Amino acid sequence: MRMSETRIKLGVNIDHIATLRQARKDIDPDPVAAAQVARQAGADMIVCHLRRDRRHIQDADLFKLCRLKGETHVEIADDKRIVDLVLKARPGSVCLVPERPGEVSTEGGLDVARNFKSLEKTVARLKRAGVEASLFIAPEAGNVRAARNLGADVVEFDASDYSAAPNQPKRRSELERLELATYMAWEMGLTVHAGHGLDYHNVAPLARMPHLNALNIGYSIVARSVFVGLKTAVGEMRRMVD
Ligand code: PXP
Repeated sequence: MRMSETRIKLGVNIDHIATLRQARKDIDPDPVAAAQVARQAGADMIVCHLRRDRRHIQDADLFKLCRLKGETHVEIADDKRIVDLVLKARPGSVCLVPERPGEVSTEGGLDVARNFKSLEKTVARLKRAGVEASLFIAPEAGNVRAARNLGADVVEFDASDYSAAPNQPKRRSELERLELATYMAWEMGLTVHAGHGLDYHNVAPLARMPHLNALNIGYSIVARSVFVGLKTAVGEMRRMVD
């Protein structure tokens, strides 16, 4: 059980429901229906990534997901055409992520220092439109400071070095890195999320971390849902996070 007065939010990423649908470019399985099941099973946020190559989530999905009751959190590259489109769909929150053509999944966090001006402009645009702005970053002090300086509301720490750690000492040191960065971001008044590569075996220590507001999890939940159903897979993760 989490030793905190606030319940940690579970963001369920439904991209891979759409990946399966796009394998046949048919109508099933529908990510919007999946979002509704995930919500009923305990997801606080529905997360999707509208990629430039539209390999899973399509524009029509985005608009439908943003019309559902409850928060829809959209991951996008810092790309004017994508930002224009996403602002028309009016999500509750947006997370800017790096996106490399051909990558299997998001590879690491943003280089905030190098892209400061562009990120600052996009974050300001999102906030003017009433959309909460998040940056996906590695859990490092320089990134946290830069994220705060450019006006982000939220930082999402890339948990992949933790989740892919090959042994216990490395996992422990990655957990400490996340803990330190979370504390620093929280002290600066940022809301803190974490995600990428989290699963039923590695989520518990993060779920107990003070000042962490939300965990965004996709692949492991959708993979498990093939065997137990989405409602059960989300419910099991909900219980691990609580
Ligand atoms: N957070 C971000 C920014 C991501 O890009 C992804 C992958 O789409 C996730 C969280 C979820 O990662 P996973 O699918 O490995 O749980």
